[in-house]
Amino acid sequence: MQEELDSIINALHLKYERIEEKCFTVFKSSYLHHELICILSGIGKVNAAIHTQYILDKFVIDCIINVGVAGSLSKELSFGDVVIASDLVEHDVDVAAFDLPLGQIPRMDTFSFSSEKSLLDKVMLIQAQKYKIHLGRIVSGDQFIDNKEKAEFISKHFGAVACEMEGAAIAHVCHVNKIPFLVIRALSDMAGCDDVARHSFNELKDMASLRSAQLIKQLLDVIG
Ligand code: ADE
Repeated sequence: MQEELDSIINALHLKYERIEEKCFTVFKSSYLHHELICILSGIGKVNAAIHTQYILDKFVIDCIINVGVAGSLSKELSFGDVVIASDLVEHDVDVAAFDLPLGQIPRMDTFSFSSEKSLLDKVMLIQAQKYKIHLGRIVSGDQFIDNKEKAEFISKHFGAVACEMEGAAIAHVCHVNKIPFLVIRALSDMAGCDDVARHSFNELKDMASLRSAQLIKQLLDVIG
């Protein structure tokens, strides 16, 4: 979302060159010795996938880092806590008619897409002062989860701690292209387990976006 991209640009004080091509807008920038290609993927798995493939085709990319907000699926985690994806699954994939478990993409060599270990090791060393940084599975689907029963089902079935709408699609594209990736998401709502998720999402998405942007700044500070 625009709010998520703006938070990154502000947190890193980025000056950028804006490149427009077809339906894509890229913000080319740098931070310390890193060259950054920032792109607003839009909402949902297909938007996320086409934007990821576009930058992989257009630029020389060492790794993809997806940053943004998510709904919590864990009672242990609260608003503003940050989840780092150990791995990701597309929770709305359902080929049970062929005896595949929910989330399993047919003829794919993996059930979940794992984040790059060296990036995980670095991000998990970051010390947060007023919030938790939690490593766990994130699930993505083309659904805004705002329902206690659904949230509990997804959490239990997938062993997931957060849900959003893009991360697993980005991870999927990176897996196919053999590009390392990391997904960092700050929690904006409880996915309908406490109250109406939409309300808390609208209220807290800017705070959560800022928090995940600050974390990416800390990560870029320590990546060699
Ligand atoms: N992104 C932030 N909160 C979400 C939710 N509850 N469901 C899906 N995507 C989200």
